Amino acid sequence: MSGFYIAMNLFGLDVLSRIVHVGTAITLVGGSLFMAIALVPSLEVLQSEQRSAFVTSVRNLWKRYVHAGIALFLLSGFYNYFRAIPKHEGDGLYHALLGTKMLLAFVIFFLASVMVGRSARFEAWRQDPSKVLRVMIILAALIVAVSGFLKIRG
Ligand code: HEM
Repeated sequence: MSGFYIAMNLFGLDVLSRIVHVGTAITLVGGSLFMAIALVPSLEVLQSEQRSAFVTSVRNLWKRYVHAGIALFLLSGFYNYFRAIPKHEGDGLYHALLGTKMLLAFVIFFLASVMVGRSARFEAWRQDPSKVLRVMIILAALIVAVSGFLKIRG
């Protein structure tokens, strides 16, 4: 009986973790795409004074989502990982691809953090965000492709 409850609990957590993981990806990757496609190019229509107030406001609001999103990715990602290990013992390709995906995710976390941060060292990136946004979106597309492949190949 207790095995049944443990199984139900893990099943519930597995589903919750998947929903949190994919929901976070949709929110953060979607938000970054919107910024690259529509928001950054539209800054052109603002005067430079309005532009800097607008960009500061966007950054301060988006920052909370970036920080919460990184925390949720790490929590749900490591949970998924520990649940996946027993199913993939000795599966070299799985671990190689998942390791690469995690490294790419940490690069994105770094880029996203400095873009909403205050470090003077990265001010030039914040002044001209298009290139960094493009790199983040390409890396995110790679991560989604690798993750989807890992899920489907079993
Ligand atoms: C930019 C950050 C990330 C994105 C966009 C992302 C995206 C995804 C997506 C789309 C899936 C497939 C979910 C499904 O089909 O149900 C997935 C699965 C997974 N993710 Fe992530 N993820 C990110 C970060 C992480 C991190 C940091 C970890 C580990 C610490 C992680 C570990 C996993 C694991 C273990 C799976 C399950 C793979 C399998 O089905 O065997 N992810 N991720």
